[in-house]
Amino acid sequence: MKKNSISEDILKSIDQNRLPKHIAIIMDGNGRWATKKGLPRTAGHKRGMDTVDMVVTKSRDLGIKVLTLYAFSTENWRRPEKEVNFLMRLLKTYLIIQRKKMMRNNIKFNVIGRIQELPAIIRKEIEKTVKITSGNTALTLNIALNYGGRVEIIDAVRKLFKDLLAVKKDLNATDLVNSIDEETISNYLYTAGFPDPDLLIRTSGELRVSNFLLWQIAYSEIYITDTLWPDFSETDFYMAVLDYQKRDRRYGGVKSI
Ligand code: IPE
Ligand code: IPE
Ligand code: MG
Repeated sequence: MKKNSISEDILKSIDQNRLPKHIAIIMDGNGRWATKKGLPRTAGHKRGMDTVDMVVTKSRDLGIKVLTLYAFSTENWRRPEKEVNFLMRLLKTYLIIQRKKMMRNNIKFNVIGRIQELPAIIRKEIEKTVKITSGNTALTLNIALNYGGRVEIIDAVRKLFKDLLAVKKDLNATDLVNSIDEETISNYLYTAGFPDPDLLIRTSGELRVSNFLLWQIAYSEIYITDTLWPDFSETDFYMAVLDYQKRDRRYGGVKSI
C-alpha cells in the first residue's frame, strides 16, 4: 500500500512532455541477488523476469516508444552450460507466456543480435512473436540476444561492403567511399530505424557498458543504480526517468536556457 503510493507520487512528478523516446537497459545483478539469498544463480534469472515484465508494462503505460533490454551478450556463452541452457529455456517460456499480453498491450516485439546462432527452438518462438506483434504500435520491445556492440559493427560493415561492391560499377571509388556518413552506419546496424537511446540504465552498480549499443549510446544519458535487477522496482524505474528529466543535454554545445 505504502510502496504503491510512493511510486504514484513519483509518477505524478514525471513530465509527460519530456519523456525519453528510447530507454535501453543493461539488466545486471541476477546472479548476485540469488547468491546473497543462498540460492542458485538461476533463481535470480527467474526473478529477473518479473522485473522485465514490470519495466515493459510501465514503459508502455508511460508512453515510451522504444525499450531495449540487454538479455544475453555475445560474451555470455562463456558461462557454465547449465546456466546458458536455463537462460534459453527461460526466454522461450517468456515468449510463449507474454505473446498474448503483448497483443493486449499493443506491444511490438523485435530482437537485435546474431539471432541465426541461437537454438532453432528459440528462433521459432522469436519469429512467431515478431510476426504476430508486427502491427502493434504503442511500444517496441527490443530484446538484445546474442548481442554484442562489436559484432553489430562487424555485421554492419560486412553488409555495407557487399552493397557497395554491388553498385561499384556505377560510381568511382572515391565517391563511393565518401558517400558513407553517420546515417549510413546507423542504417546498417541492427537498430536501423530506431532513434538512439535517450536514457541508458544499468543495474547492480557496475560502471561499464559491457559491449552494449556502442555506436548508439554516443549521447545517451547514463543512469547507474546499485539495485540488483530482481530488486529493481517500479519506483526505481520512475526515479531513473525523473533523473533523466533533470539532465541538460548539450551534445557538445552550450547550456540551453
Ligand atoms: C544479468 O545478471 C543477466 C544476464 C547477464 C543474463 P547476471 O547473471 O550478470 O548477474 P551477476 O552480474 O552475475 O550478478
Ligand atoms: C551484461 O552483463 C550483459 C547482459 C546484461 C545481458 P554481464 O554480467 O554479462 O556483464 P559483465 O560481465 O559484468 O561486464
Ligand atoms: Mg552480470
